[in-house]
Amino acid sequence: MVELTLPKNSRVRVGRTWPNANGATNCRKFSIYRWNPDDGENPRVDTYFVDMDNCGPMVLDALIKIKNEIDPTLTFRRSCREGICGSCAMNIDGINTLACIYGMDEIKGDVKIYPLPHTPVVKDLIPDLTQFYAQHASIMPWLETKTNRPAKEWKQSIEDREKLDGLYECVMCACCSTSCPSYWWNSDRYLGPAALLHANRWIKDSRDEATGERLDDLEDPFKLYRCHTIMNCTKTCPKGLNPAKAIAEIKKMMVDRVV
Ligand code: SF4
Ligand code: SF4
Ligand code: FES
Repeated sequence: MVELTLPKNSRVRVGRTWPNANGATNCRKFSIYRWNPDDGENPRVDTYFVDMDNCGPMVLDALIKIKNEIDPTLTFRRSCREGICGSCAMNIDGINTLACIYGMDEIKGDVKIYPLPHTPVVKDLIPDLTQFYAQHASIMPWLETKTNRPAKEWKQSIEDREKLDGLYECVMCACCSTSCPSYWWNSDRYLGPAALLHANRWIKDSRDEATGERLDDLEDPFKLYRCHTIMNCTKTCPKGLNPAKAIAEIKKMMVDRVV
């Protein structure tokens, strides 16, 4: 019989519990994944207690407080603090989301924080998104034109501009792709919901003149058709976008162009 066990160096162990130093009475417990590629140790889960009477309401507020006041070695990405840059994506309470717009009042009990799943980890809560960005680059995320440039801007009608709503707002956080089972198992060949949502954004752009080439490139059993409409992507998107619908629209365009 096949024995399926994790390699020893992948097992997550119980880590350090950091004391509640200032004696605060209204504390919340945080269990946070830690891994340092430089110390040769297995990953661990450290425990912290955060004084809720002196902390902002979002999960990112607590992470910043831990880093500033308890453990400066805790490593995570963040920049805008308002859901715009997409850099603070992580798995909070079992959900892929943005820490800066995820309120602690949405979580019952202890707060458990891990990096985005099925992604190599650079350190602690930082995922390695090299492949994710390469896939985004592969869909040519720019306006591809053949006619001469206009003297000023490329104009669109209000109706054509509205076709980009629900697509241009994507902040490239990778929450959707890393929640997609098809992407987990085939991320080397399946582009995943984020890249495909962006592909749809450029296909739909009335100013773009490479629609045929874009569709030709996606006409592939893996790049596009590995999406099985499981819908995890849409369920998890912290910006309320619908990558599954964007993918379905590309599939429909593939059919429409041959009938
Ligand atoms: S709808 Fe497609 S892209 Fe979205 S989670 Fe399901 S398989 Fe993945
Ligand atoms: S579609 Fe949503 S979840 Fe996916 S990368 Fe864009 S903003 Fe993030
Ligand atoms: S810090 Fe920019 S999206 Fe969270």
